[in-house]
Formats: sequence, structure tokens, C-alpha cells
Amino acid sequence: MTSIELDHDLIREGLSEEEIRALQPEVDRCHQTLTQGSGAGNSFLGWLHLPSRTADKPLADIEQVARELSECSDALVSIGIGGSYLGARAGLSFLGKGAEGGMEVHFAGHNLSTDHLADLFDHLEGQDVCVNVISKSGTTTEPALAFRLLRQWLIARYGDREAARRIVVTTDREKGALKQWADAEGYRTFVIPDDVGGRFSVLSPVGLLPLAAGGVDIRALMEGARQQEALALATSAFERNPAALYAAIRHGLRKKGKTIEILATFHPAFHYLQEWWKQLAGESEGKEGQGLFPASVEYTTDLHSLGQWVQEGPRNVFETFLRLAAPGRRIEIPTLQNDPDGLNYLAGQTIDHVNDQAFLGTRAAHLEGNVPNMTITVARRSPAALGALFYFFEYAVAMTGYLMGVNPFDQPGVELYKKNMFRLLGKPGQGKG
Ligand code: PA5
Repeated sequence: MTSIELDHDLIREGLSEEEIRALQPEVDRCHQTLTQGSGAGNSFLGWLHLPSRTADKPLADIEQVARELSECSDALVSIGIGGSYLGARAGLSFLGKGAEGGMEVHFAGHNLSTDHLADLFDHLEGQDVCVNVISKSGTTTEPALAFRLLRQWLIARYGDREAARRIVVTTDREKGALKQWADAEGYRTFVIPDDVGGRFSVLSPVGLLPLAAGGVDIRALMEGARQQEALALATSAFERNPAALYAAIRHGLRKKGKTIEILATFHPAFHYLQEWWKQLAGESEGKEGQGLFPASVEYTTDLHSLGQWVQEGPRNVFETFLRLAAPGRRIEIPTLQNDPDGLNYLAGQTIDHVNDQAFLGTRAAHLEGNVPNMTITVARRSPAALGALFYFFEYAVAMTGYLMGVNPFDQPGVELYKKNMFRLLGKPGQGKG
């Protein structure tokens, strides 16, 4: 069993055990709403059973296409934004060398920076390249522009026919410009299920194809997610469902004025998982005046930066530590003659031991500074642990959204910037800039 442990002992300064227990009936109700599909946004619950209901054939198809792409390419450019981008990036950075044997994967279409794109084109010179463009709506400006440019680049380099062989489109079954374009050009396509929204789509072809191309064992990943699904959907009892407990604590702390959750880690491998989590939580919960502000820090780096704010800034914050029980490798501290740097007292210890003491010291200091905290621990950086983490957070965020009384599966607030931008750009039908 791929276990995710939640240690909430140090949350007590913010929320007592009694207060947590009092939330159990509310959580039970929301769990039923979620699992019976009777709540707001219930046409977007396909993610709930993706791990257990994804059959062998779709996984084999993804693996096959990933293999074919890697046979003709050194690098894949994965084009997408938000939920169509962050999951794969999170997975590849979490696994690091654990995803060996795959292609280099680059990401584009998640910003409008000229320099970012120009640098990417420079980097791709001399490499054989393929592209996976991912957009559920098929109309999002950032990935659409990146795809227009990368497609042109592929055609200029390989010609129409070979470029088409190097392009894979992941999009809606039938809607959107991308789908029509893919059909017209004969690009290979993967379908994003109708009932799976962007930020809950990492365990669909959206995340799985770039992960497989990057060398990740997607079957092990799905198995880890499946075990977590079984655990989370079996019961909402806090003792047996840590994701439900985590959601309850987040909701309870928010009600008591802790409006910022900092997802903190002492392992840079978690960096993009933090980014993925911020998008998942921010877009799912931040509406109707609700929602925790999801922030992230990377210690010990940020102990020399944001650490001061966390220790002594406004007290509307709590911390959730993401922890690895064991690093993949071991680095021992050497002894130096004459002890010039005064570090011989650590000789023979591992860097990880020092990191762990920094973690223990930090969480105690922050608790003293009135920042209650909890710790989510995974055993190691494996595809199964990654799958479990994805599902754990998806369930917890959906649950927190329901506890807060919002629809976790829509994002009405992202439309206004687009409207303004289109007006300024003079998009036909949008009024004058
Ligand atoms: O979670 C979401 O729904 C969003 O973040 C989308 O993933 C993001 O806006 C990209 O949308 P699309 O895949 O339609 O291009």
C-alpha cells in the first residue's frame, strides 16, 4: 500500500482535537455529496474514478505513442497552461532521475513571454523534436499561440507530412478549434473526458502522455493513485481517510481566520507539485469570497528569505509540510583536518540528517510563532507515491470546496482578464481597445 501519512499533532494551537472531531459529520455529508455526485459541478466528477476505471488499452495506447515519439525525437515540447500543463511538470520534476530513459520534455504555452519562447527555439536547434499540444477547450490563447509557432517551426524543419507525424493533440472529444484542426491535418489525438476538468486531469492523457514520454512508469503511477482512490472513497472517517482529515483541518482553520495555507517543503523535487497544488486549490476554492490563499515555500532556501515573514508576520497563516521519509541517495559529511569551518561535529552524518533537523527545528519555531502546522509524508520519490499524492490532493481540495460551500469545479473568475485582453488586442466581436 502506498501510504501518505498526515501528522497533525502540531495543528493543535490553531484547531483543537475536539474542534476537528466536531467537523466529522459535515465531512461525512460532503463525502456523500461527492461520491454520490449530488453536489455543485457534478458533471465534472470523472476524475474521482480515473485511476480505477482507466483500462489497460488506453494506457497501452499512451505508452505506444510515447515510444513512437521517442524513436524519432530527442525532445518533446508539451504545450498547455494551467491544468493542461502543471501535472506533467510536477511529475517530471518530482521524479527527477526516477524518470530515466525518456525524452527531454520542455514546456511551452503557459506564458506569453517572447524570451521564454525564443530561448526554447534556441535550445531546440540541432535536436529532433515532437510536440504534444494539450487544451481541453482548444481555444486558450497562450497554448494556441505557442502551437501556431511550434507547428510552423516543425513544418519548416521537417515538411508538412513529417511535422504531422510529430504532433499529438490532446483535447476535447468534439468541441474546439484544435479538434477540428487535428482532424483536418490528420494529427494523432487523445481525448480529455467531458467530465474531467483541467486541474483534475493529470491522471488522464493530459498528464499521462508527457509523463510517459519523459520516462515515467505510468502504470505504477496509476496504481499508486488507484490505492489512494480506494482509501479515500471507502470512508470519510478521519482515522482511515487522511485526505478527509486534511480537508477538515483546512476548512476549520479557515473559519478561525487562518486564511493562508503555506505548502512548505525541504525538498526541491516538490517544487512543481507545489505549483500544481496552488492551481488546484486556488481555482477550486477561491470564489464567492471563500478559499484559502495557497502559497508555497522551499526551505531551507526560503528560511533565509520568507522565513522571517512566516515567523513574525501576520498570524493568519498555517503551514503544511510536504516531507520525504527518505531521499533516494546518501551523501555523507566528510571530516576535515583542523576543522577549519567548525563542521567536524557533523562528520559522518548525512546531509539528509541535517535537513531533517532543520525541518524539526523549523516546525517547532513556527509553532512557537503561532503558525500551526501539519506534515504530509510520502516514503520516497516513486511513480506510485506521485500518483497517490495527485489523488490525495484532488480529493482533499474537492472536499474542502464542498465544505466551504462553493463549486470546486468551475472557474468563473478567470474570464475577466481574457475579456479585457481580447478587447485590447482588438479580437473581432470584443469591442474597441
Ligand atoms: O483547471 C482548469 O480548468 C484551467 O486551469 C485549465 O486547465 C486552463 O485554463 C487551460 O484550459 P484549456 O485546457 O482549455 O486550454
